[in-house]
Amino acid sequence: MSEPQAAQDLLRNAPVFPSVLPDFDPDRTPDSPLELFLDWLSNAIDAGLPAPHAVNVATIGQDGMPDARVVILKDVGEQGWSFASSSESPKGRQLKVSPSAALNFFWPTVGRQIRIRGKVHQGAARENAQDFRRRNPVARALVLAGRQSDVMTSNPDAAVRGQLERLEADNEIVPPDWTVYTVAAGTVEFWQADENRRHTRLRYSWVDRRWKKELLWP
Ligand SMILES: Cc1cc2nc3c(=O)[nH]c(=O)nc-3n(C[C@H](O)[C@H](O)[C@H](O)COP(=O)(O)O)c2cc1C
Repeated sequence: MSEPQAAQDLLRNAPVFPSVLPDFDPDRTPDSPLELFLDWLSNAIDAGLPAPHAVNVATIGQDGMPDARVVILKDVGEQGWSFASSSESPKGRQLKVSPSAALNFFWPTVGRQIRIRGKVHQGAARENAQDFRRRNPVARALVLAGRQSDVMTSNPDAAVRGQLERLEADNEIVPPDWTVYTVAAGTVEFWQADENRRHTRLRYSWVDRRWKKELLWP
């Protein structure tokens, strides 16, 4: 076990953002956060950032405590930001009771963060099925074999093998709990790091059926 002081030193000496960061002029931003998100996403992909589509999703637990985990962004459009999971998982049960969420993208090599908050809508059966069928067979077999986040009491190999055989016999199988969740953004905030700590924050808020833009203190 390291000393508390050693942990503080470790943290203080941790690498920070690169000194060359992309320009961000909030005066030259589009009216819609979707357009800016897609621009930043392509920039993150071009910069070679690993897993730029991995996003932290925060939900409200049934005990009132926040909960968060990383998922993969499956789609984004006028309807919102979509990810997929089991409605029987803890996050799925939380979203059933409190259908709202916060998403957080952090792209360190370009010094960027995007925060999204909004109501969550569940996908229609066709959309859920389409997403599930696009998954890799092992990922599908895992969903079919057990309930996500349940305590594992036995070796899962045989159960997964069994589900893979089931999928080989019928590739169309879709479990009823697989769900696409779409966060309809009420606010979207873009945060750009600056090497001199003059970070820029631009927040879009959906007010009176249009996007309002405001700068926030860092
Ligand atoms: C990079 C990455 C991507 C992930 N993608 C997903 C995903 O798309 N869907 C999902 O249900 N879990 C995904 N997970 C696993 C979740 O983080 C989490 O462990 C799981 O969904 C159970 O969460 P819950 O107990 O809060 O419901 C991913 C984890 C990581 C680290």
